[in-house]
Amino acid sequence: MQAVRDREAIEILKANDRGGYTVPTSRLYPYQWNWDSVFVALGFHTFDKDRAWREIEMLFEGQWDDGMVPHILFRRDDPDYFPGPSVWRAGGAIQSSGHSQPPVAASVVCALVEAGGEEGERRGRSLFDKLLAYHRWFHRHRDPHGKGVIGVVHPWESGRDNSADWDNAMRQVRIAPDLGNYQRRDTAHVDADQRPKQAEYDRFLTLVTFGRDQGWNQDTIAREGQFFVADPGNHFILMRADRDLLRLAERFGKTVEADEIRAWLTASEVGTNLIWNDDVSAFCARDLRSGQFSDAISSAAALVFYAGAGSEEQRALMIDHLHRIMDNVAFGLPSLDPDHARFEPKRYWLGPVWMVMNFMIARGLAEAGQVALAEQIKAGSRQLIEEQGFYEYFDPVTGEGCGGGDFSWTAAMWLAWAGRHGEAAEAA
Ligand code: GLC
Repeated sequence: MQAVRDREAIEILKANDRGGYTVPTSRLYPYQWNWDSVFVALGFHTFDKDRAWREIEMLFEGQWDDGMVPHILFRRDDPDYFPGPSVWRAGGAIQSSGHSQPPVAASVVCALVEAGGEEGERRGRSLFDKLLAYHRWFHRHRDPHGKGVIGVVHPWESGRDNSADWDNAMRQVRIAPDLGNYQRRDTAHVDADQRPKQAEYDRFLTLVTFGRDQGWNQDTIAREGQFFVADPGNHFILMRADRDLLRLAERFGKTVEADEIRAWLTASEVGTNLIWNDDVSAFCARDLRSGQFSDAISSAAALVFYAGAGSEEQRALMIDHLHRIMDNVAFGLPSLDPDHARFEPKRYWLGPVWMVMNFMIARGLAEAGQVALAEQIKAGSRQLIEEQGFYEYFDPVTGEGCGGGDFSWTAAMWLAWAGRHGEAAEAA
């Protein structure tokens, strides 16, 4: 099975290659997505190092002048996807969406550099300034009041589109009256039961329309938009990426930059407390306008270990949750706590297991000495792919593969992590 799945994974990456960048899957997602691409680079790196670097370099070709790396790059128009470039009307040389996605890039670049070789060293070094500009953008525009916690201006910016983390804040969003009769394309490719609901979609579009009407002025969007929510996912991922960027800065002798990054980390350690919800004893999303907490424990909270964040007590309480959650499902880690009322095992980010989350969570747990939990997550991930193939996500109760098939980041995670024996944290 190992050899068969290895071959298939490589074939998927090759088939989804559009000439130096990879689409998540053909039809459903026909463009270059930010964090998909970065994870895909880890997969390519197992058999074609040059191609791995190319993937990340092409993503950074779409970087905006202010440092932002958009969540989608529309290199060519494709009527199969909505909302496309004519709705967003954003970007420069390359048309794009108008906000970002989880900033995993510095962590993957660091892993590729540390995997060794002169070529990696050279290409990593030439990406350093771009990564730094990207992180500066995140700290400035997604933490405009300097609280040390990272917010998202759209659920899509979190990469976890319909997570219960956004429920309270999304309910407050007044749907724009002039959305018109748009045609969703996602439900033409995947069963509607597994996709976000229509009212949610109207709100997603309302937020896009607002950003567009502001000419994508990021300050106005974060300060005045209808949606600005502290996201445990992006907060912890950026913290980890800051640590990895710091390793690169030290390696490349960038001392001034290293100090700047250390200051971000100090601020983030303080800010982490702002997303600790005492009512449920877990890290939770929090509306940065109203201060209201979500009561959902999503898999993003489990990234606290990957970030190297949180107090001893907070970490111990999170471990208790993880044991409870893992005992409740056949395959971990579900994207939402099965004890939460909104849990739906097949609906996107309301329950299903996602390989890229598992990879980061298991890595963090292994680093924190929670080897048994990390191994349990890795073994489950491996079994899901072995039995079902390379689906977008998986039902944590039945193990069924759901969403799109032949998915690039699932293939990449197999090659770089789940399909490799040995340490739970392995990659690159
Ligand atoms: C969905 C996912 C997002 C991913 C994209 C492409 O929007 O929620 O995380 O990047 O699909 O795979």
